[in-house]
This record gives sequence, C-alpha cells and structure tokens, in this order.
Amino acid sequence: MRTLVKNIKELVGVESTPQLRKQGKEMAQLETVKDAYLLVEDGKIKAFGPMSGWKGTADREVDATGRLVFPTFCDSHTHIVYANSREHEFVDKIRGLSYEEIAKRGGGILNSAKATAAASEDELYDMALQRLDGVMRLGTGAIEIKSGYGLSTESELKLLRVIRRLKETSPMTIKSNFLGAHGIPMEYRGHQEDYVDLVINEMIPRVADEGLADFIDVFCDQGFFTVEDTERILTAGIKYGMRPKIHANEMAVSGGVQVGVKYNAISVDHLEQMGDAEIECLKGSDTMPTILPGCAFFLNLPLSPARKMIEAGLPVAMASDYNPGTSPSGNMQLVLSMACIRYRLTPEEALNATTLNTAYAMGVSDEVGSIAVGKKANFYITKPIASYEYMPYAYGENKVERVFLNGVEV
Ligand code: NIG
Ligand code: FE
Repeated sequence: MRTLVKNIKELVGVESTPQLRKQGKEMAQLETVKDAYLLVEDGKIKAFGPMSGWKGTADREVDATGRLVFPTFCDSHTHIVYANSREHEFVDKIRGLSYEEIAKRGGGILNSAKATAAASEDELYDMALQRLDGVMRLGTGAIEIKSGYGLSTESELKLLRVIRRLKETSPMTIKSNFLGAHGIPMEYRGHQEDYVDLVINEMIPRVADEGLADFIDVFCDQGFFTVEDTERILTAGIKYGMRPKIHANEMAVSGGVQVGVKYNAISVDHLEQMGDAEIECLKGSDTMPTILPGCAFFLNLPLSPARKMIEAGLPVAMASDYNPGTSPSGNMQLVLSMACIRYRLTPEEALNATTLNTAYAMGVSDEVGSIAVGKKANFYITKPIASYEYMPYAYGENKVERVFLNGVEV
C-alpha cells in the first residue's frame, strides 16, 4: 500500500541524515522542504522531496494544499493511568497551600493512589484510552506512560497491565515505565526504607516476571525518595533490564541529576532546580535532560534554565508530564508554545525538543521523531497555516487537522 501526500506547503522536520538526538547548536537545525511530497509505503516513510521531483504511482493520494506536515510529537513523560481528577487540590493551591504541603497531609499522589486502587483494570483502561485518544488527535504519535498511582504490588501491576493493553490496542508507539517509587504510602511514613525494600524485593521481580516495564523511575526529590533509596532501586531495576528514567530536581537540588547520570538514565526529568554542577554533570553523558513546561506552569515553579543548558552544548527535550496533580493536560502543541514563550527556545529548537529529543528520551528515536526514510510514517497535516512558526505562536488553538500513524489516518 502506497500513500502519497502531495502539494505540501512545507514539510517540516525532515532528516536526510538521521540523528538520534540534537544537542547544543544542532537544536537550531530544522530541515524543511517547501512545496513537497511525502510517500508512505507499508506504514513507513519511503521517500520525500520537492513536488517537482515526484514521479511514480500511489494507491492513495492525500492533497495537502495550503497545509504543512510535521512529524508527530513524542511525549516522553506521562502518568495517564489514574482514576480521579484533583481539582479540589488545585483550588487549595490557589488559596496558598504548596504541592509539598498537600502531599504531607496525604493528598497529592496518595489521593490519586487511593482512587486508583479502587478502580478496576477495565475502568482504568477505558479512562487511559480516552486520554490517549485525546492527545493523539492533538498530534502526539509516541508516548511513555508510567505506573505510580498504585503504590502496592497488586495495584502497580494492575496499572502496568493497563499500559500493556494500551500498547496492544493503540496505533501509538508506547513505552512503559515502572514508577513504584512515586510516593511513600502513609503506613510507611517514618520508615520509608521498608517501602523501598518492598519495591526492590517484591515489585521489581513481579514486574520483570510479566515483562511489564521498559524503564524504571524514582521520584528522587525533597520529601520523597532520597539519593540512597534511588541508588538501591535503580540497581535492582537495572539487573532486570529496566533502564532508568528519573524524576529529579522538581522541589530541590536533590542529587537526582547526578544519580541519574551515574546509572546511565535515558533521561532525567523536571529540572526546575538546576545548578551549574547539574549542567556540568550532564555534559558528555547519554542522559537526556527533559523539561516539563506544563508542570512548572501549573505549579508556578521556577523555570528550568533551558537556554543555559543549550548554550552549554546539552540537548534538551520537553514533554507534557500529563498527570492529575501537576499537569492535567497532555497537549504537546501547548508544550511547544511554552517552550518558546516561557523558555525562549526558538521554534526550531522547540520542535526538536518535542519530537526527536523526546523520542530519544523514550528510546525510539531510530523509528520516530522526524521525517526520515525508513522511519514510521507518523505525521500530522495542519489546518491551512502560514508557516511553521505559527505552530508555537498561536498558543491554545488546535492547528492539527489530520493525524497519520504508521501511514494510516487515525
Ligand atoms: O511528575 N513529581 C512527581 N510526579 C508527578 C506528579 C504526580 C502527582 O502529583 O500526581 C510529576 O509531576
Ligand atoms: Fe512526572
């Protein structure tokens, strides 16, 4: 089956020589082809180029006159398997309570864990699928999904099984991440090392036994898990083949970046609190620093020093953190806008940060994240718009008209 997308006003994010990620000055490079065609064969990108160079036949033609085509977003950090929304805490925060204060009194992650424990696997699947479909229509084609609202062995397994079902049924590229160390259950307060033992001795082996996780995550931060807890958990996960991805430096300079780099994490995420030592430590590593603009926006946190990181030669990725407590939106178009408006990335850098670099941060940049021959035909066609800069510029508006994953319109 060959599909030709023709008369594309501008085909954006093409790579003639595919790279696994872009760092420093490379982040400003964005190849495009004006008045272009894109040829898809059997779900993969077969060819692209200027319309004038097109010859051949296709089984199906899609006319993109006046429209731009982009690679779909990759969202490398989400928590979309949960039962309840948390707008009451949102109001508490407006009235002056901090995220940490809410967590201390048993709200926050524990609030979600309680409701999520009570929901059945089928119910959680239906809710997560709805969220997944929602972000897919906004242009996301690949997504990482974490457990972490279980916090007991059975409940964590239930969440991971939901993610497995999503993998089996959704056309999106999905990676699963085991985040048993997301919060400390009330009954373990004061002796959290016993909860860490549970994660290591019971949860990780069971998760591995069922092959449920691609990655292992720890919320390494002030008031949550310590660097020592993190080291123990990562060591155990790595033994079972799970590569680390870390929640680090959201509340404080936690040591999370350093421990992530030490254990060769594929990414360290959040990074609202970054000193020079953290930037230094990331240099030359294989770890993708990942910023979550929705979380900083929703919680009014300090902004991660994205420009400083890029100027230091680092790569930067930006993901949604879609979750009920700190970012109840998975809209990557909005993340793209925030990348430019709040973090001063240029549109080119912001597009790389939300496609290729997030694909790297979930280990799939060899198959998605750009328009390159042989990659999955995951792309969206915009509504009629003037230029690629319009994508981040017109924040809050849905600019995506049609989404294709594996060459098939969804
Ligand atoms: O990435 N920081 C830790 N975990 C989530 C928030 C979870 C919640 O509040 O429900 C995050 O922001
Ligand atoms: Fe998160």
